[in-house]
Amino acid sequence: MREWTLEERYRVLESPEDIRELHDRNAASIYRQTYHVQPVTGLSSDPNGFVKHNGLWHLFYQWCPWGAVHGLKYWYHVTSEDLVVWKNAGVGLKPDRDFDNKGTHSGSAISVADKLYFFYTGNHRDENWIRTPYTCAAYLGEDGRPVKLDAPLFGPRDDHSEHQRDPKVFYVESENAYFIFIGAQTLDKRGCVLVYKSKELLSGWEFAGELNVPGYESFGGMWECPSIEHIDGKDVLVFSPQYTKLPGRGESTNHNVYFIGKMDYKTLTFTPDGPYRYLDYGFDFYAAQIAPPDENGQACMIAWIGLPDNHYPTEEEDWEGSMALPRVLHVKNSRLIQTPVPGIEALRDKTVLQYHCDEEEGVGDILSERIPSAAEILIRPAKGDFDLKLFADEEGKGGLQFSYNAETRTMTVDKSHLAKRFNEKVGEVLDMPLERDPEDLRIFVDHSSVEVFVNGGEATFTTHAYPTDAEAFISMTKPEELVMYALKPSVEDSFVI
Ligand code: FRU
Repeated sequence: MREWTLEERYRVLESPEDIRELHDRNAASIYRQTYHVQPVTGLSSDPNGFVKHNGLWHLFYQWCPWGAVHGLKYWYHVTSEDLVVWKNAGVGLKPDRDFDNKGTHSGSAISVADKLYFFYTGNHRDENWIRTPYTCAAYLGEDGRPVKLDAPLFGPRDDHSEHQRDPKVFYVESENAYFIFIGAQTLDKRGCVLVYKSKELLSGWEFAGELNVPGYESFGGMWECPSIEHIDGKDVLVFSPQYTKLPGRGESTNHNVYFIGKMDYKTLTFTPDGPYRYLDYGFDFYAAQIAPPDENGQACMIAWIGLPDNHYPTEEEDWEGSMALPRVLHVKNSRLIQTPVPGIEALRDKTVLQYHCDEEEGVGDILSERIPSAAEILIRPAKGDFDLKLFADEEGKGGLQFSYNAETRTMTVDKSHLAKRFNEKVGEVLDMPLERDPEDLRIFVDHSSVEVFVNGGEATFTTHAYPTDAEAFISMTKPEELVMYALKPSVEDSFVI
């Protein structure tokens, strides 16, 4: 792992030429994604400002230009007409003011009457490295780049710790007011959300109180990236609690959870219908953000494939990170159902394998079929236990291993047999508990990620994986049906700064 000095990590980007060579080097990696958004150079982490505005989707990501390091953060801008084909649009927000001198940290967007507004955290540090997080705003200028307001909207509260960031802005019709949720930490280091309210978007913000979530007064040490939307008649609250271990999540202290329930904006109480649930059961999924519902009322969520304290093999190549595929959200039986955006099917190119079990011969195994480096795999498993390996060798050994145990209704995922191992200490084996036997698996493989949707999106599993040349095969016991498509690229890896 490379050691970075503070100066290197917090270097200001003066000119695109500072990173042209890095871009070319990063773009040549065999692990560059072809249909997932990834950093133009260096590191990408949280999704920011995810919104549809005047028919175009905007997405930004936390970006450190210099390499695989969490240093000075910019917002890098990408756009899409359909959430499938993405174009690089250049730097969105840059840390060029005193109030955001050490980073334009995470935030959200809102489209109001033909204008697009951004709310973000200005990460200010003084000469003694003391941090003051400001809540700041900007709007999309005519040249397609954000224009910042000259002063922050408000500063931090001194009755909470310095961890106050990641504004999620939204409008509540019943209150005829805008709200901002801020991810925060109390002075005794409990995670919470601070709520602000205003009749106007760019002024008049007042602290309304701390969000009450009965039963969760002490749950994790900081709630990063809160996000809330009204979906299918329910309120869905999503956040990333950190500084705590949670059941079934190995040694990780960073998580992404959701509640379904009812939000009362008068008492600032979110009453959950049931316990918190993991948004995704995989190794690498964090900081998910839900976009405001589009004109058809459809809610979409996107997340970072990665975790704050993790390290990935592409660090050696001076880049890391990727966005997950955008997911359409629905609520059914008090559970979140997550499905890949429908347009993704347009990426299907060649069908490379179409297997249907022969009734006469009985259920057989699939051994050692080659997986295209960008692929979608649809599987209907037979009843009972099964084993599935992605990135096995030609003999069907090793790889990323999924084993389903029908008795415990658990899918266990083991990444310890991959040649390139990473984050071993956080854990290499995780369980995905299912509420019913898997009837369908939908798997998306890109050059350095795997996303699995089970039972129409009732459970999902997202992870990075960095297969070597020899690790190119799929094998499975007893599928009833297995179809594998090669997928076309849809994300430009162009140098737009
Ligand atoms: C989450 C986070 C946010 C913060 C941003 C900085 O990963 O720590 O809370 O705004 O990253 O990049």
